[in-house]
Amino acid sequence: MNSSMNPLTAGMTTLSTRHLIAIKDSTVQDLELILQTADQFLEVLYRPVRKVPSLRDLTIANLFFENSTRTRLSFELAEKRLSADVVNFSGNGSSISKGETLSDTVRNILAMKIDMLVVRHSNAGTCQFLANRVDARIVNAGDGAHEHPTQALLDAFSIRQKFGRIEGVKVLLVGDILHSRVAMSNLFCLLKLGAEVMVTGPATLMPPHLGDLGIRFEPNLDEALEWCDVANVLRIQLERQQMRYIPSLREYSLYFGLNKARLDRLSHSIVIMHPGPINRGVELQSDIADGPHSIILQQVENGVAVRMAVLYLLADQIRNPHL
Ligand code: NCD
Repeated sequence: MNSSMNPLTAGMTTLSTRHLIAIKDSTVQDLELILQTADQFLEVLYRPVRKVPSLRDLTIANLFFENSTRTRLSFELAEKRLSADVVNFSGNGSSISKGETLSDTVRNILAMKIDMLVVRHSNAGTCQFLANRVDARIVNAGDGAHEHPTQALLDAFSIRQKFGRIEGVKVLLVGDILHSRVAMSNLFCLLKLGAEVMVTGPATLMPPHLGDLGIRFEPNLDEALEWCDVANVLRIQLERQQMRYIPSLREYSLYFGLNKARLDRLSHSIVIMHPGPINRGVELQSDIADGPHSIILQQVENGVAVRMAVLYLLADQIRNPHL
């Protein structure tokens, strides 16, 4: 990274936190700093040599106790583009299945001199649990139905890239808000950055107290689509549902699935987002997922730059500890 790209020398501040665990607990300044830094890293990704030496003194372990394609690859690429040493660990086939506790597993990994952990786990609160017990910096890559902060940041980044701003943009989240960590992180991130937020989906999949946060619930998808500038469409999190919240996926698709006919009926054009993985034919038809309204692959591209920014800013604190 050259000095003109260094956010520290460009008059910005450092992060106010040692870890990135929840957008709910993040300051607006930290969110803005990450997004501004990501702008600079996106530029790096378009250079002939898509790599900077910023993290060459650091070792990062990616601990994925739950399935992932995009997020895992995106973090690994971000780490490699920053020249970090990287090790990967997957929960399946690990010593946890032999009865080792999570903190023992992690302490053993850290004994090998790891500076930062990127953690995905099916239990909400795992990242905070680890942050309270170990020395390494923790980045939450999705913990149960709690939060997925880098997904919300890359979504916000993509909205800003498309509209030139986040403030005042009308963002609709569609689907299983109750079980979605993407929804939780998005809601907090968008509210903190000044977007207007609405949710739609089956009433059984809405968390209580949304109204207290200033979030409107519109039960009718077509009305909600008419209101919004951008719709972020979520997957039904069947793996996190303890009960039958919807009669069937077919019926869900009928009432809450997005298709071209629905978008054609709107009085204005809207942008479509999805964090992936898409269940084609359920929440999104292919004509929408692959159509001109969709910025889904742009989100994936932006994800690498946003994760580079998060890792870079946390690494800066390892070298200049002030927290
Ligand atoms: C999401 C996740 O794992 O929380 N995907 C992702 O990180 N790109 C959303 C999902 O699984 O539906």
